[in-house]
Amino acid sequence: MGAVGDHGPLGERAAAVSSVKGHRLFAAVYDRLNGQAERTWLGSRRAGLVAQAGGDVLEIGAGTGANLGHYRDATRVMAAEPDPAMRARLARHLSRAMVPVEVADAPAERLGFPDESFDTVVSTLVLCSVVDPDAALAEIRRVLRPGGRLLVLEHVRGEGRRARWQDRVTPLWRRVGAGCHPNRDTGAAIVRAGFHLDHAERFEPPRVPAIVRPFVEIVARPDSTGPKPQDVS
Ligand SMILES: C[S@@+](CC[C@H](N)C(=O)[O-])C[C@H]1O[C@@H](n2cnc3c(N)ncnc32)[C@H](O)[C@@H]1O
Repeated sequence: MGAVGDHGPLGERAAAVSSVKGHRLFAAVYDRLNGQAERTWLGSRRAGLVAQAGGDVLEIGAGTGANLGHYRDATRVMAAEPDPAMRARLARHLSRAMVPVEVADAPAERLGFPDESFDTVVSTLVLCSVVDPDAALAEIRRVLRPGGRLLVLEHVRGEGRRARWQDRVTPLWRRVGAGCHPNRDTGAAIVRAGFHLDHAERFEPPRVPAIVRPFVEIVARPDSTGPKPQDVS
């Protein structure tokens, strides 16, 4: 179906707080860099995860729009992307979507949307790059409706020697990789943010450099029995 519009009222509000630096070169090569992975395993992982998104959906760090064609049951998708270079590509790919999509300029740490305004939040390959994952997860929890779900696909810190190597190379990697941290334990951060994991699969995708392995696929929902982020901050 394609675009409903770029920078709707919510997007404009979020734009005021956006502070993510543009990575023009990264945006220009991103789809080509991922091409083989998309064809061999990443595309099918996206499809399986994103097909579970229902109702009003927020996708954080939507990048060039690689997930857009996989939404089936969403009522509408708010595709938030704070990097102007990525957002320009995202805007060109809206026709991939079969559901209404709006584009917003909003960093995950300060989404700018009202409390409890989405049924699903989707995050693929984003929590490795946000400046403050705990703040981003608190925001995600804030904007999710009760019973809503967080769908995550992400590379995470490994174990043992590999983890220690990832720790050592992260300062350099994040400079060349548009802020990507290969050593984040994102599953633990999601639990710490007050989510219950309905599904958590850790896997080693084929032909992916060891620095950005393993991956996790997570389906989580706000833990209604636990404290909310605002109660503990
Ligand atoms: C590796 S790309 C992933 C793009 C897309 N989600 C995908 O699955 O292909 C990381 C994305 O996170 C975005 N990003 C970086 N910092 C962010 C932040 N603080 N909040 C939201 N998105 C952010 C980048 O602009 C980029 O589009």
